[in-house]
Amino acid sequence: MGTDFPEGFRWGTATAAHQVEGGNWNNDWWAWEHAEGTPCAEPSGDACDHWHRFEQDISLLAALGFDDYRFSIEWSRIEPEPGEISLAALDHYRRVCAACLAHGVRPVVTFHHFTSPRWVAQAGGWHDASTVEHFVRFAERAVAHLGDLIGAACTINEPNVVAFVGYQLGVFPPGIVSDELFRVATDNLLAAHERVVPVLRSGPGEFPVGLTLSMTDYQPHPGDDPAAVARCEEARATLEDPYLELAAGDDFLGVQTYSRMRFGPEGALGPEDDVPVLPMGYEYYPDSLEACLRRAWAVTGGQVPLVVTENGIGTDDDTQRIDYLRTALGGVLACLADGLDVRGYTYWSLLDNFEWAFGYRPRFGIVAVDRATQRRTVKPSAEWLGAVALANSLAVDG
Ligand code: BGC
Repeated sequence: MGTDFPEGFRWGTATAAHQVEGGNWNNDWWAWEHAEGTPCAEPSGDACDHWHRFEQDISLLAALGFDDYRFSIEWSRIEPEPGEISLAALDHYRRVCAACLAHGVRPVVTFHHFTSPRWVAQAGGWHDASTVEHFVRFAERAVAHLGDLIGAACTINEPNVVAFVGYQLGVFPPGIVSDELFRVATDNLLAAHERVVPVLRSGPGEFPVGLTLSMTDYQPHPGDDPAAVARCEEARATLEDPYLELAAGDDFLGVQTYSRMRFGPEGALGPEDDVPVLPMGYEYYPDSLEACLRRAWAVTGGQVPLVVTENGIGTDDDTQRIDYLRTALGGVLACLADGLDVRGYTYWSLLDNFEWAFGYRPRFGIVAVDRATQRRTVKPSAEWLGAVALANSLAVDG
């Protein structure tokens, strides 16, 4: 197996509006951060002030060597009240896309990354069918204004996480733990993706459209125990397969993974002895990327090109980040050597940012942010990954 990536392989880095922009007070997450009794560590506040500093951030990622910037547009800014569209907010996102293009970077635009306007949440949120209609209408308006500048579009970020963490773990809004509402929300999210794909494809502009899915390397322990195997199968069947099946007709499938999960016959097992545990509470496990790419490819029957739309590590140890990346990217090379059509790798995240209920503690960024001054500091991992991107090869370690 070589160390080079195929010609045209794309290198990106990602953010999401609520995690970096700051001041997104009109969405369900801001409300959740400020509500009594939720598990949020702290409010998002000014975040990384990316709303004002996007130009500097885009010029930084371009200088590092990346060719894609994946970011999301904030529905609550674009449609602050039902049917009321802010052209100023849409124009802002035109400027973000234009800044990417001016730096030779492809804008990869996510239409929904976990947050919905407060009025959508009040009207029922993802467990109410009205949200599907509202989201389709929002996407129509947004793509009409931005489509000519979009390089690739992701419909809904990790719909399986929105449903699972919001309706089974109760850690994301609406924080209702209910099997029934989990099922309804899942169906609505699937329907929303299916409805929005043709809307985005109808342009203006011509760009690939896909879904981004949170995947986990589920591992039975012991490996041949039928009850443990069944637990893994159940998790995949509930959280991954319906989305993988739906993605079959899309232009690409975005694979996003961070770690593994081991299941014993009785249920989830904690981290294995001797495997480091990260600030997110899960194991350091960069091999999950290869496993998830292979599974996505197998379940979609090798019909849909794969793009790693998120992969990364929240750590204070930047050397550990580079080690993680080296192993994860080795896994991508192994997949490519076996003929999997993997088109790109996107690191999560460009910046240390608001990690949802965990607040600002887990640091996923390749660029540090001093939130008192908003000063950006490039970490060694950013230089390393940028060099890999420019060489299109893992052979950069000297
Ligand atoms: C999400 C990001 C999040 C990242 C790291 C993904 O599930 O799309 O918003 O920050 O994981 O936890």
